[in-house]
Amino acid sequence: MDLKNEILKLKEELDVTIVAHFYQKDEVFELADIVGDSLELAKRAIATESENIIFCGVGFMGESVKVLSPSKRVFMPKIACCAMAKMIDVDYYNNNLEILNKAGLSNDNILPITYINSSAAVKAAVGKMGGYVCTSANAYKIIERGLESGKKIFFVPDRCLGQNFAKQIGLKSAVVGIDPIEKVLEADIICFNGFCSVHQLFTPEDIDFFREKYPDIIVAVHPECDPAVVDKADFVGSTSQLIKYITQDLSPDQKVVVGTEYNMVNRLREKNTYVLSSTKPECPTMNETTLEDLYNTLLSIKNKTYTNEIFVSDDTVKYARIALERMFEV
Ligand code: 13P
Ligand code: SF4
Repeated sequence: MDLKNEILKLKEELDVTIVAHFYQKDEVFELADIVGDSLELAKRAIATESENIIFCGVGFMGESVKVLSPSKRVFMPKIACCAMAKMIDVDYYNNNLEILNKAGLSNDNILPITYINSSAAVKAAVGKMGGYVCTSANAYKIIERGLESGKKIFFVPDRCLGQNFAKQIGLKSAVVGIDPIEKVLEADIICFNGFCSVHQLFTPEDIDFFREKYPDIIVAVHPECDPAVVDKADFVGSTSQLIKYITQDLSPDQKVVVGTEYNMVNRLREKNTYVLSSTKPECPTMNETTLEDLYNTLLSIKNKTYTNEIFVSDDTVKYARIALERMFEV
């Protein structure tokens, strides 16, 4: 069976929009109606007329669409969970707050901000405390808005994103469970100890290697990279911002080495582009979705068996939506 053709036929027949993140495998990515970074995908998926959204990405992405647009049916060909999002649940979130409360910092003096790479339940916990969601494309603006409250920012779950943006704004950051509690209490941005295992693969030594080999090379990385890597980079941005920078702002002859997921960087290869690692930086869960999964999901919509549909409880939708909508307002 020619899966690609079968998928295209079903797509024509059904009221469905296929959405894919840049980290998806090429064969899945090329069949999507909408592609983008986390922020664009959430915005554009909810703006479609389609009743059914098929989200090729990781769990928090499909959940965000369901939270923002509960009347749509959202399906994920593979319910794959972002490893970083899995590092925090509501219990861990509350445990961290308890540590801060015991050290003398009350919840009234804490404003939580969660990276969009977190479950809807964590977003709801943040929404209940008056906090915001952010993505790598808008974290700087959201943190600046959060600071207007005069409170300490509790940034979850990506410690690197929190540390990188604190540095960019010239503020102090510390990580709960790693740094001494005195340092945590002094910090403006208090980070949860989560990280992306894929972006941890990039090291400052990788950058030194490429700079030595190609002295004029530009280094562009995602803000989920370790601060020691971000410090040495020429450009830092979300997946969409990286693509725009490399394909539109740099000349085609400019060599650039990129610190983010392999599938995305590989698609830019013709533009003098290198992968910033000797280990292939593949996101295992993003790579789980196959053409066959996509076909089976379309077939389940056609047959009304509806496999891998995303559901979020009403209470979680209510508060997670508040935190997401606060982000859109900014
Ligand atoms: P973007 O929002 O930049 O697409 O990042 C999502 C992600 O999971 C990066 O690892
Ligand atoms: Fe999550 Fe990292 Fe994969 Fe992005 S690359 S989806 S942060 S595990």
